Amino acid sequence: MAFKNLNSVLVVAAAVVLGVKAVDNGLAITPQMGWDNWNALGCDVSEELLQQTARLIVDYGLKDVGYHYVILDDCWSVGRNASNNSSLVADPVKFPNGMAAVADDMHALGLGFGMYSDAGKYTCGGYAGSLGYETVDANTWASWGVDYLKYDNCYNEGYAGNQQISSARYRTMGNALNATGRPILYSLCNWGEDYPWNWGSTIANSWRISGDVYDSWDLYDARCPCEGPNAFNCELPGFHCSITNIMNKASFIVSKAQPGAWNDLDMLEVGNGAMTDAEYVAHFSMWAAAKSPLIMGNDIRVIQPKDLAILSNAAVIAVNQDPSGSSAARRWMYDTNNTDSNGYPARIQMWSGSLQSTTGGDYSDMVVLLINGNNAETVMNATLADIFVDSGEQGTAPQVKMSWEVRDLWANRMSEADAAAIIAGSSAAGNATNATTVVAPRFNVSSTSYAEGLASNNSILLGNVTTTVLPSGTVLATVAPHGAAMFRLRALPTAVMKRDEL
Ligand SMILES: *[C@@H]1O[C@H](CO)[C@@H](O)[C@H](O)[C@H]1NC(C)=O
Ligand SMILES: *[C@@H]1O[C@H](CO)[C@@H](O)[C@H](O)[C@H]1NC(C)=O
Ligand SMILES: *[C@@H]1O[C@H](CO)[C@@H](O)[C@H](O)[C@H]1NC(C)=O
Ligand SMILES: *[C@@H]1O[C@H](CO)[C@@H](O)[C@H](O)[C@H]1NC(C)=O
Ligand SMILES: *[C@@H]1O[C@H](CO)[C@@H](O)[C@H](O)[C@H]1NC(C)=O
Ligand SMILES: *[C@@H]1O[C@H](CO)[C@@H](O)[C@H](O)[C@H]1NC(C)=O
Ligand SMILES: *[C@@H]1O[C@H](CO)[C@@H](O)[C@H](O)[C@H]1NC(C)=O
Ligand SMILES: *[C@@H]1O[C@H](CO)[C@@H](O)[C@H](O)[C@H]1NC(C)=O
Ligand SMILES: *[C@@H]1O[C@H](CO)[C@@H](O)[C@H](O)[C@H]1NC(C)=O
Ligand SMILES: *[C@@H]1O[C@H](CO)[C@@H](O)[C@H](O)[C@H]1NC(C)=O
Ligand SMILES: *[C@@H]1O[C@H](CO)[C@@H](O)[C@H](O)[C@H]1NC(C)=O
Repeated sequence: MAFKNLNSVLVVAAAVVLGVKAVDNGLAITPQMGWDNWNALGCDVSEELLQQTARLIVDYGLKDVGYHYVILDDCWSVGRNASNNSSLVADPVKFPNGMAAVADDMHALGLGFGMYSDAGKYTCGGYAGSLGYETVDANTWASWGVDYLKYDNCYNEGYAGNQQISSARYRTMGNALNATGRPILYSLCNWGEDYPWNWGSTIANSWRISGDVYDSWDLYDARCPCEGPNAFNCELPGFHCSITNIMNKASFIVSKAQPGAWNDLDMLEVGNGAMTDAEYVAHFSMWAAAKSPLIMGNDIRVIQPKDLAILSNAAVIAVNQDPSGSSAARRWMYDTNNTDSNGYPARIQMWSGSLQSTTGGDYSDMVVLLINGNNAETVMNATLADIFVDSGEQGTAPQVKMSWEVRDLWANRMSEADAAAIIAGSSAAGNATNATTVVAPRFNVSSTSYAEGLASNNSILLGNVTTTVLPSGTVLATVAPHGAAMFRLRALPTAVMKRDEL
């Protein structure tokens, strides 16, 4: 216990001894998972879209690896009803059976239903916003059976500019949701304006840390300023933020994440088509290690096998859903002699973070994430001294003097053939299938939680042993262009080692 990683000790203390400091609605104890239509489909929403998508999330086994919330984004209302206490009215063309019926459909499949609104006069799409209508809207959503609210920041009438003003505006909705008595996961979306990582945890279950993501690995866009080391406390959230831009912004604030309250790096772009497979692997790995909510943002009706295989990787999701709830941190980032898509030096970086011990010993497992910003394959390495720097600087951590199993978390990525078989066995028309059972064994949260799977050494979650790293050693990996290597390190028994070897 004495040498356990500091992060996990703090989390245990916060959760068990002092009580969790996050918003107290019992939700998002691990980062929330689900799907939202915005990235792929924008305002093109309907009852049918949600029903088809929900069915496919079940058929494709995505529900069974943890994706739970089906979230309807902007553009669903036709305004307020003066005859009904100014409550919001769902668009009767897009949602002919009404929202309560949609929520029932989601619940019947064992999924949660999420909706969207805005802490302003209008939503970003120009529909009625909830500023000043927090109580009536929270009551409406609760009456419909809504389980999740994404709450945006457009047209906020200038109620921003410092942390108190922004937090008060968002707290009003948090209080209104709480007063309904229905646990509704609160996903705060003010794009990192007024530093929500400082105040979001007592109000909401997650807070966006940047302007909107777009489907690009590293292309600079002037509308999303603040790059690399200058991403710290960026004042203009902007939009069109690349994966590397958001990764940099996250690197400074990872310690703000805790059970019930997470840094939201924005919805996933996996499957939207503009990035390479390696880039999507790196994007998904990064979001998982940083304990971002994992909200799929692709059109599931046209998902490609390779993207289903990424989104289904339970070994990577197990890092995200780890019971210790501690985010990985960036240990180093180096310029290389190569250039990135913008002509700037391409960077390589290494992140590591403590996970729950799966050995039953005193030492936490560790996740190691190597990210290659080069346009060329790169041999990357990480020393135990750097991986465990939180437990002692310059190689003084006791873990540096131990041996570790190095387990590749991408080794058991589902094959494209298996993913294609799963997709072929279903249909957007929703015909019954059990195709999820015809391929190699998969992890299933509907019968075993990630915490239970990890505690029982489930091999799907632990990844494949590729090698062992010896005391004071180095983890080496050949990493694809704009790709990632991701490992789980597990302590090898020290009992067999002689005292003077330690
Ligand atoms: C409302 O807040 C109280 C106090 O934090 C908490 O105990 C309760 O569980 C919350 N209820 C809901 C429905 O979120
Ligand atoms: C507005 O509310 C009234 C009273 O509840 C109801 O009769 C009417 O159908 C509602 N109108 C719409 C468009 O929902
Ligand atoms: C109308 O909404 C307000 C909150 O905006 C609420 O206090 C009031 O109880 C509602 N009235 C009815 C009749 O539902
Ligand atoms: C009236 O408002 C209530 C609560 O806000 C809501 O549950 C109900 O669906 C609304 N009725 C109509 C007809 O819009
Ligand atoms: C990068 O360039 C410098 C200066 O040309 C050279 O000394 C160094 O070896 C290069 N590093 C790599 C990794 O190629
Ligand atoms: C999991 O594996 C570790 C290392 O082999 C072992 O020490 C531990 O007892 C195992 N736990 C269970 C529940 O089997
Ligand atoms: C690790 O990478 C650095 C920088 O590329 C290099 O100088 C060093 O030799 C590498 N170490 C090993 C063990 O490969
Ligand atoms: C990983 O281990 C499993 C089970 O031991 C094995 O079936 C699979 O082929 C291995 N994968 C790789 C890439 O080595
Ligand atoms: C799904 O439905 C389509 C269209 O009716 C049919 O061609 C296909 O065979 C069905 N697949 C399964 C697995 O039932
Ligand atoms: C489920 O899949 C298995 C294996 O492919 C098949 O034998 C069985 O008939 C299927 N069951 C149903 C109900 O479709
Ligand atoms: C996952 O477990 C649930 C509950 O036991 C079961 O209904 C479902 O069929 C399982 N899914 C798969 C893909 O095996």
